[in-house]
Amino acid sequence: MTEINTGQTEHIDMLKDFLGEERIKNIICLESTGSTNLFLKDLSKDSATQGTVVIADEQTKGRGRLGRSFESPKDKGLYMSYLMKPKVSAENAVRITAWTAVAVCNAVKTVCKADPGIKWVNDLILSGKKFCGILCEMSLGEKKGQISDVIAGIGINVNGDINDLSEDIRYKATSLKAETGRAQDRIRLAAEIIKELDSMCLRSSGKTEDYLKAYKKYSIMQDKEVYVRKTEAIRGDNDLIRDPGKDDLLKHAHVIGINDDFSLLVRYDDGSTESLDSGEVSIRGMHGYI
Ligand code: BTN
Repeated sequence: MTEINTGQTEHIDMLKDFLGEERIKNIICLESTGSTNLFLKDLSKDSATQGTVVIADEQTKGRGRLGRSFESPKDKGLYMSYLMKPKVSAENAVRITAWTAVAVCNAVKTVCKADPGIKWVNDLILSGKKFCGILCEMSLGEKKGQISDVIAGIGINVNGDINDLSEDIRYKATSLKAETGRAQDRIRLAAEIIKELDSMCLRSSGKTEDYLKAYKKYSIMQDKEVYVRKTEAIRGDNDLIRDPGKDDLLKHAHVIGINDDFSLLVRYDDGSTESLDSGEVSIRGMHGYI
């Protein structure tokens, strides 16, 4: 790929120390962009290859799951997108998202000496609060039911303080700095995530039970009392906390566990069970975020 790193050459130099000359050829570091996922999507229409990475110091239109926005204050977080070209069918695509969560947890453990957990489907948490969100956006290939590209977008609140975020998400947000008591090196963390994702992509068509096992180990969902909210009902977190009883699309449930296809198995109050697919629902704890 031609050199299109715009500006952030010091990041590239640091990444080179961790990843080597060859690997950084398809890593792009930007000072600011709307969304690294969208930036990479545009590149992938041309000739971007598997493993192409876009990292930004700031996003002005960061995208979250289920159509939400993702706050991305300048120099506080790690906002990165990684291009994958997995050979999986669309129905197995959810695995990629879950594996990415495992890869990021592994990297956070290694670099920050922290002990993260996964709130299904792929919010990463510390002390019951979210410090990282993952958004995997997929494009279908020409062959029916086959995926061509996955853009895995990872947003980590690395060195942010609570005041860097808007008031309505403060109750559920934290940062790696707040949880570990020291500022963390964003670029060192980016490098470790890239290593983890490179190795994940190499293994994606081979033995993958390890990722399922690791996902279940990181998961904090077991036996949680939660509210299940179908996508049509999503309006904002506060609706849920204020008056869940009035929303018929909101259902109280007990989490039985994670199924082998990464869906969430829950039991409702009437005794019925359901396996929830990540694209359709949002989960909230009974007393707040989890
Ligand atoms: C979520 O928590 O809802 C998912 C958030 C994903 C945010 C990341 S930041 C890098 C990438 N670019 C985006 O616009 N979104 C993802």
